[in-house]
Formats: sequence, structure tokens, C-alpha cells
Amino acid sequence: MSVPFADFASLAALHRELEEQFLQHQDALLDLDVALAAERLDAYEAALRRHLEAEEALLLPVFARAGRIRGASPELFTGEHQRLLEFLARFRAALRALDSKAPDFKRAVLRLLDAETTFKHLSHHHELREETHFFPALDSVTDETERRELLAAFTASVAP
Ligand SMILES: [Fe+2]
Ligand SMILES: [Fe+2]
Repeated sequence: MSVPFADFASLAALHRELEEQFLQHQDALLDLDVALAAERLDAYEAALRRHLEAEEALLLPVFARAGRIRGASPELFTGEHQRLLEFLARFRAALRALDSKAPDFKRAVLRLLDAETTFKHLSHHHELREETHFFPALDSVTDETERRELLAAFTASVAP
């Protein structure tokens, strides 16, 4: 990400990038290219981990200043982060178990895609909650200087 973010609300663009990366993994699954699907899932997971860890380390402590917001408690966000990573661990295991020579190979791929739909719903709700409550609150509790510094630190943390 070469263009610096002007405000926290703009971080929504990073959510869209993560979504696109997951879809690329699913494209490979649809092509029945298990090796590529696994490689892309690993890359997505690494990027997602950096994103979640940067949110928890850098942004949630500042978010606490906004006080309690219904439907947007820090525990809710960290709990969802945990669930997202648990899903990915299951997908990794399912991918490893795929055998292209097995008679039920395509059904196993379909089962994985179905499970991934549940993951996409959770991820979508999580991102929406952040874009509705978390990022705007960060914009309102920080001044220009702190915002710039935090956004620079966040951008550096999520870079590969
Ligand atoms: Fe998050
Ligand atoms: Fe996020």
C-alpha cells in the first residue's frame, strides 16, 4: 500500500483487498487446483493475521477511549478474530485432506466451498461492524497528528 491513508474510515479498502485475496483462493479451488488453492489460502491467512494483530495491538487500545459502543465491544472484535482464524485452520486441514484421485473429490471440494461461505459471512459482518463503528470512532477520538502516526504504524504492520 503506497498511498498513505488519510483517515481510519479509509482502512475499509484493506478489507476489500483481503476479500479479493480470499476469492483468488476460491478461484483456484473452482479450477480444482488444490496446490494453488492451498498456496493462496496461506498467503491470505498471513495477510489476515497481520491485519488482525495490527488492529489488536495498535487500534483497539485507542478505540477504548470512545467508551462502550453497543455491538462494537473490543471483546466482540477479538472474539471474531479468533473465530476467523479457527475457520482458516479447518480449511487448511480440509485442503490437505483433498485427494484429486478420490471418487468423491468434487464433493469434498464442494463441502469446503460451502464451509467457506459461512466464513465469508462471518468475515463480512465483522468488517461491516468495524467500518460502521470501529473506524469512525477512531477518527473521532484522535487528532490529526496521532491519526497520521497511528495510520503509518498500522500500514507498516500490515505490509508483507
Ligand atoms: Fe478486525
Ligand atoms: Fe479489520
